[in-house]
Amino acid sequence: MRYRSQSVAYWYFAVAMVLFGLQLVFGLLSAAKYLGPDPLLYILPFDVTKVIHTNLLIVWVLTGFMGATYWMVPDESRTELYSVRLAYVQLVLWTLMGVTAVVGYLFRYGTGNKLLEQPLPHKIVIVICMLLFLYNIGTTIWKSKRFTTTEGVLMLGLGLAAVLYLPALLEYENYTVAIFYRWWTIHLWVEGVWEMIQGGFLAYLLIRLSGADREVMEKWLYVIVGLVFIAGILGTAHHYYWVGVPAYWLPIGGIFSALEPLALVGMAIYAYSAMRRSGMSHPNTLALHWTLGSAVFTLFGAGLLGLAHTFPDVNKWTHGTLITAMHGHAAFYGAYAMITLAMISFALPAMTPGRSEQGSSIGYWSFWLQIGGMFGMTLSFATAGIAQVYLERILGMGYLDAQLKIQVHFVMLVITGSIFTIGVGLFIYDFFRHAPRFEVDDGQKPGLRPVVTPAPA
Ligand code: HEM
Ligand code: HEM
Ligand SMILES: [Fe+2]
Repeated sequence: MRYRSQSVAYWYFAVAMVLFGLQLVFGLLSAAKYLGPDPLLYILPFDVTKVIHTNLLIVWVLTGFMGATYWMVPDESRTELYSVRLAYVQLVLWTLMGVTAVVGYLFRYGTGNKLLEQPLPHKIVIVICMLLFLYNIGTTIWKSKRFTTTEGVLMLGLGLAAVLYLPALLEYENYTVAIFYRWWTIHLWVEGVWEMIQGGFLAYLLIRLSGADREVMEKWLYVIVGLVFIAGILGTAHHYYWVGVPAYWLPIGGIFSALEPLALVGMAIYAYSAMRRSGMSHPNTLALHWTLGSAVFTLFGAGLLGLAHTFPDVNKWTHGTLITAMHGHAAFYGAYAMITLAMISFALPAMTPGRSEQGSSIGYWSFWLQIGGMFGMTLSFATAGIAQVYLERILGMGYLDAQLKIQVHFVMLVITGSIFTIGVGLFIYDFFRHAPRFEVDDGQKPGLRPVVTPAPA
């Protein structure tokens, strides 16, 4: 650790780990309900377990993003954080918001707007936390007078993520209007500004891990971010096919969203070629697995599986089915869970002495069990979704009758989900098994590093 204040990242990561574990409990519960009979039907019905599952996902991933930013910005700007105290105040407020939101959902206290179910008071706390966070990070960078492109892309992504949350504060009576604006937050988050956040972390990790040339890496980062924007903004229209808006959105959505995977192909090539050309200058190969894994899994889950149902002619059959869940899992996991786990794996050895820099065998087991489990879950949702579309939408079978026919795929989901959960359990165990100790390693500070002169030939 180069700067003492980077230690706040550890506590953000710790909270993220706990919430990640809890998210999976509610995922498995939601999956088990498809198999019935459901002894918890009147206490914890499916809609409650699902809303808790997806909200915990958003909260833990954002907690991870914040922790990773508190780690990365001092490193990039070569300075201590502006205010450690503010970062802790923000973490406490944020965690309280998350926990009370989940408790509220148990008592049906929520707005019912998918993924944005947080009640208004919670939404206001979210905005306050984001403002505290951006102020702290912004002042740190401003005072340091050192602002890298990588950091710029990350900051732009985080700032715009906060701005795009604002439409979610409003409620609309009209369902079409509500749905129309809901995507300004959800779509423009996951297929726009969060990809900038992922891009910022990816560039940081690749520069550190592979020793790739910063100038080259940052130039390509611009290109990728540009591509995301060109396609992603109008690509929002791939959610406007059947929501009661004019038909001209159909070709716009089809064409622009079909261009979105281009940026993701670019990102995967970017990561792979940085490794090929520059090799490994850093011993942390576990973090490298997560970094490259994130770029590749995003291409699969978001690029390929997103493209699979983005054209209006396909989407009219698959909209709102388990095909959506197939893509939602693989994309969210690859892009945002994996990049967060990459940042954690990279930062952790410096904050928990006693851990090997290369990562332990538990760490690699965790990686492969998660990859295998998530791949299996994606296939389970895919096979269930294809059968569902055929039975329900082509043959016209009733929803519940079709669900009975596809139960076998949910057995597979529970099995593969359990494999995935073991992988996550190992990650969490590996995270907590070494106690944190925050020692500043001055030798690594630029300028203080001993100059090594090559030995005469
Ligand atoms: C990392 C990037 C991405 C993430 C995390 C992501 C995640 C999701 C999630 C969670 C949903 C369900 C949303 C809801 O119903 O509330 C969804 C829907 C959808 N996504 Fe993505 N996605 C990503 C990228 C893409 C890309 C690149 C494409 C197209 C090429 C795409 C195409 C779609 C389509 C067409 C739907 C609507 C499905 C329906 O009609 O039910 N996604 N995505
Ligand atoms: C043990 C592992 C998991 C299991 C068993 C599981 C199961 C489920 C189930 C059954 C649903 C409801 C699908 C429906 O509406 O019919 C769901 C929704 C969802 N889960 Fe998971 N999940 C798991 C882990 C994850 C992870 C790791 C992520 C992301 C990184 C994730 C993201 C989502 C999203 C975005 C939705 C909403 C999808 C949509 O509405 O189409 N889940 N999950
Ligand atoms: Fe989208």
